Amino acid sequence: MKGQFMKSTIIRLAVASALGLGAAGLAQAAEEEHAAEGGEAHAVHYPLKKPEYVDWTFAGVFGKYDQGQLQRGFKVYREVCSACHGLSRVAFRTLGSEHGPGFSEAQVKSLAAEYEVTNADPDEAGDMFQRPAEPKDFIPSPYPNDLAAAASNGGAVPPDLSLITKSRAVERGLPWFIFDMFLPYQEQGADYLHALLTGYEEPPEGVEVPEGTYYNPYFIAGMSLKMPPPISDDQVEYTDGTPQTVDQYSRDVAAFLMWAAEPHLVERKSMGFKVMIFLAIFAGLLYITKRRIWEAAH
Ligand code: HEC
Repeated sequence: MKGQFMKSTIIRLAVASALGLGAAGLAQAAEEEHAAEGGEAHAVHYPLKKPEYVDWTFAGVFGKYDQGQLQRGFKVYREVCSACHGLSRVAFRTLGSEHGPGFSEAQVKSLAAEYEVTNADPDEAGDMFQRPAEPKDFIPSPYPNDLAAAASNGGAVPPDLSLITKSRAVERGLPWFIFDMFLPYQEQGADYLHALLTGYEEPPEGVEVPEGTYYNPYFIAGMSLKMPPPISDDQVEYTDGTPQTVDQYSRDVAAFLMWAAEPHLVERKSMGFKVMIFLAIFAGLLYITKRRIWEAAH
């Protein structure tokens, strides 16, 4: 019985891989055809380089966020990225979540108080007014609207970072995307961010980038973007002895933004695992029941 089960599982995996390979082959053939028709201009695919893997603590079935890393990542966001990028879906109080950065209540209060927000209701005279933020408030954006944001950034709007790690996924290509169908790989967004922030370099000989843009082979939509390299070594002070390098800052802020986009990842994974165990036991019970019933019928 067990052998047969194994056999059918192997057959299913093989069929799925074959389907995957087939689909990939078709997609590749279509792309090549497209490139051949459109000449060289169409043969360029962005990003020019694929993001590298980072060994995140939150990867895998038992992945967990590293609280120290999330706290450092928030510091990088606050001291560097928040000058241009909003994080408008994150409320200050969630920074105290035990599965997130885990700041204490007092810390959350004082972090919030560093920001000013417009009160939801007007004062007695009917005027809107500014007040220091409280834990219940959402992190305010640096610009009042997209036009103001674009005007200050050479025409490009710095996107809100609340969901950025979910909205940027670079296709890894063969053979990885077949494995990714079976193994949970959800770190594309964080890998992309780390690659983007560490990936600025001089354009290769003979390549000119449009004025006001910066060459970055990891950028998903072109060879250069309008964000200048935002961080440099030693820019943000770490008090826990963690190296103050661009690479480390990028890891930390990417991990923090992964948490911002998916604050319940740890609970979801542990619930998923419990469900799998339950299903395994339940399948066993059903099998025994089935045997009993059919034995009795003989
Ligand atoms: C001086 C302003 C400025 C700062 C500081 C800044 N950014 Fe940006 N960022 C931009 C602009 C402008 C864009 C849009 C670029 C474009 O589309 O050409 C952008 C785009 C991005 C994108 C989207 C890239 C994509 O795939 O479309 C990410 C992610 C990002 N920034 C992350 C960060 C992080 C993380 C930090 C802090 C370490 C940061 N930025 C600091 C201005 C800034």
